[in-house]
Amino acid sequence: MNVLNTVAEFRAARAGVPEPLGLVPTMGALHEGHISLARRARAECATVAMSVFVNPSQFGPREDLSRYPRPIERDLQMAREAGVDVVFHPSVEEMYPAGHSTWVEMEGPAKRWEGEHRPGHFRGVATVVAKLFTIIAPQREYFGEKDFQQLAVIRRLAADLMLPVDVIGCPTVREPDGLALSSRNVYLTPEERPLAVALHNALQAGRRRIGRGEREAETVRRVMEQVLLDTPGFTVDYVAVVDPGSLEPLKRIEGPARGLIAARIGSVRLIDNMSLAE
Ligand code: PAF
Repeated sequence: MNVLNTVAEFRAARAGVPEPLGLVPTMGALHEGHISLARRARAECATVAMSVFVNPSQFGPREDLSRYPRPIERDLQMAREAGVDVVFHPSVEEMYPAGHSTWVEMEGPAKRWEGEHRPGHFRGVATVVAKLFTIIAPQREYFGEKDFQQLAVIRRLAADLMLPVDVIGCPTVREPDGLALSSRNVYLTPEERPLAVALHNALQAGRRRIGRGEREAETVRRVMEQVLLDTPGFTVDYVAVVDPGSLEPLKRIEGPARGLIAARIGSVRLIDNMSLAE
């Protein structure tokens, strides 16, 4: 497996590699969720590239950029074992050289939810994903449904900028108790960890309620929120029942619906989502 740190090195290595090339963009601290994306890319692409870059521009001023885990040797080992051919691991200066002044601002699916609670977050994500596209030139890009809004934002970005790439969403990987895998789970204390499953429990409660015939989205939303409020230590950022395409809140559930949750337990902010109705 090749590990390349500069745009020039990557472009030189990119020329002539077998296609399609599949890209798995990551911020490192890899877990089984990332590895499932790499395996899917391995099964579908002639060449698999992974980017490992903790992108400072998607972190807010009071967020966890400096403490974000960066276990690069372990990440490289896991990428190698998953069959990744090439890892792009640039420095911050390489991705944002002095004088960098171009940003991708998005509306539509980027506006609500994470967009409201983490101002500037999707501007950072969209900018780095557009840069990675121009450096790596993948035919396919693999993202987890765990970040459901991010996936919608990146699909919109690819469509709006007419990027010739298939954006592929892959199912969330969960711990046996239902907690969605996330690089941030390592921040949970042993006391918080069993409580963190409340996000998944809330989504399941919403899904069950719809399964029993409830059609009022606000009733389902409250059922989910109550699960979190009943769990000690939680602060809710948002609980929403949305149209899976537009991410706009639903009034009535007459077709597909997605539950979106962001909540804090102690100092750890977790997000999760699930299809509530198909
Ligand atoms: O999902 C992530 O890990 C990041 O937001 C991404 C897409 C790699 C951009 O930095």
